[in-house]
Amino acid sequence: MPKIIDGNAAAADVLARLKVAAQQLTAETGVVPGIAVVIVGQDPASKVYVASKGKKAKECGFHSTEDALPTHTTEEELVALVEKLNADPAIHGILVQLPLPDHIDSGRIIQTIAPEKDVDGFHFINVGKLGTGELDTAFVPCTPAGSMILIEREHGRDLSGLNAVIVGRSNIVGKPMANLLLHANATVTIAHSRTKNLPELCRSADILVAAVGRPEMIKADWIKPGATVIDVGINRISGGSNGKTRLVGDVSYEEAATKAGAITPVPGGVGPMTIALLMANTVTSASRAAG
Ligand code: GUN
Repeated sequence: MPKIIDGNAAAADVLARLKVAAQQLTAETGVVPGIAVVIVGQDPASKVYVASKGKKAKECGFHSTEDALPTHTTEEELVALVEKLNADPAIHGILVQLPLPDHIDSGRIIQTIAPEKDVDGFHFINVGKLGTGELDTAFVPCTPAGSMILIEREHGRDLSGLNAVIVGRSNIVGKPMANLLLHANATVTIAHSRTKNLPELCRSADILVAAVGRPEMIKADWIKPGATVIDVGINRISGGSNGKTRLVGDVSYEEAATKAGAITPVPGGVGPMTIALLMANTVTSASRAAG
């Protein structure tokens, strides 16, 4: 049987270390890490994510604010809120939950966030720093950064000679994940909806990262025996006879587990790491602000 990668345990390790770092920062400089989470509209999944981000920030002892704005909020109103948070010295990290309603230009909002408070790592400055390897001063997007820690726990920091295949080319996961794997010396392929022979390509992967948002798309016979499988998908599907919904990843977990060497479950794999890395980025930002 494969090793089941315990994202909750890995996240607890990250959080324990950053709580110590945050306490030390506060003791030495008086700075308390502060995070502002902004949500616009009523998307149920976004509301759940935002609530868990705020809860975790409080558990870590951070200063945290949550602005829940109505769907009809204008782009100008949202820009004004982000600018206010940019100027607030008690706030070190700003997260505007995506997706935003269609009438708001997400790109403009992301570029309005001050790069030094962009704990999501979505601003062009941080994207550029990740692309060029300026990792000491970049903010790296939380889901890929968390996935990378899980991969390092299996393979160490140097992935020389290993083939990594990422299924999905999003700005939030696929592209930054590719850069991180490349910096760790993996041989990286990004696959997507127009890729030919996807199962065959996936079978070449020593490390397979699934980030497409298609429930249970990746099957057992797509997986190289012994591969490490990182499932970033969180899909809610109807679960059968009792009419309840259940969460599944982009990987058909039960069958994939018969082939993989190590695999992340959904839930309890990448998800907790995303939140832990958001907290870590916030402490990093607060430390940089404190000088
Ligand atoms: N929506 C889905 N994932 C994310 C994320 O990592 N950050 C933000 N801001 N929105 C998201």
